[in-house]
Amino acid sequence: MRNSTYRNPQLNANGELTHLLSIDGLPREALLRILDTASSFLEVSDRDVKKVPLLRGKSVFNLFFENSTRTRTTFEIAAKRLSADVINLDVARSSTAKGETLLDTIDNLVAMHADMFVVRHASSGAPYLIVDHLHRIGRSDVHVVNAGDGRHAHPTQGLLDMYTIRHYKKDFSNLTVAIVGDILHSRVARSDIYALNTLGAGEVRAIGPQTLLPTAIDKMGVRVFNTLQEGLKGCDVIIMLRLQNERMNGALLPSAREYFKHYGLTPETLALAKPEAIVMHPGPMNRGVEIDSEVADGSQAVILPQVTFGIAVRMAVMSLLAGN
Ligand code: CP
Repeated sequence: MRNSTYRNPQLNANGELTHLLSIDGLPREALLRILDTASSFLEVSDRDVKKVPLLRGKSVFNLFFENSTRTRTTFEIAAKRLSADVINLDVARSSTAKGETLLDTIDNLVAMHADMFVVRHASSGAPYLIVDHLHRIGRSDVHVVNAGDGRHAHPTQGLLDMYTIRHYKKDFSNLTVAIVGDILHSRVARSDIYALNTLGAGEVRAIGPQTLLPTAIDKMGVRVFNTLQEGLKGCDVIIMLRLQNERMNGALLPSAREYFKHYGLTPETLALAKPEAIVMHPGPMNRGVEIDSEVADGSQAVILPQVTFGIAVRMAVMSLLAGN
């Protein structure tokens, strides 16, 4: 339990969202405001978002210290649609490669008049370190958005997943949502679980082998299942996760083939869920490991719409944090 002196580092002294670091600790109203703002950007069509001047004159720095296709690109598109100047730091060619510390890099980018940092880092907590540093140097006006830190949090992925579920299913309260696979190493799973519980989802299930489930998972407000046969029964939404091999220490599974046999989503295992269930995946997908191509490319998959909705959701987050 948090003590009474705890101050959520995402909020300013007036309780307004000034950074987005995690869905944990954000009230339902804050999540709904982001989803509704994203909707307003997609009012005319589900696909097109017009350019708006909300971040004109502001500089958004994309700092991706870990690989990304979807998140980095959609943040860039979103910032450009908001009329911001976007700078993508090429980390491999930056002075980080010469030993410059993260916080020295931040100081130099602040000196270049950064207004917002979008940060992905392999270390859990890196965006919090930046927020704390900005506070100490008196630059809390520079906003930080966590674009995925270690296995801790990926709040904009959680939000775009909620946007996608609301788009297809409307109301969270009657839904049974299953999150399947490597939950132990997944920042997406943690963000989704917090968001689903905050938004009042009927039931959140975690399905996976015991070796890939966090020890205290049952304390997070989920029902735990170790087989797809039990866990997928009656589900409305299935969120598949990739095996995060890069975050595993040692072998937690016999083989990818064995994993697919027990936890791969195939047309046969998908049939255990409701016929109108939707299939989601944050990407990148490993076809034939956690998901069969027939399902990934099938009529129940909403994996590519998730990516498109990510643009509007990231526009919403950036405009609410720093909009003119
Ligand atoms: N979902 C997600 O974070 O994908 P990327 O690693 O491609 O950004």
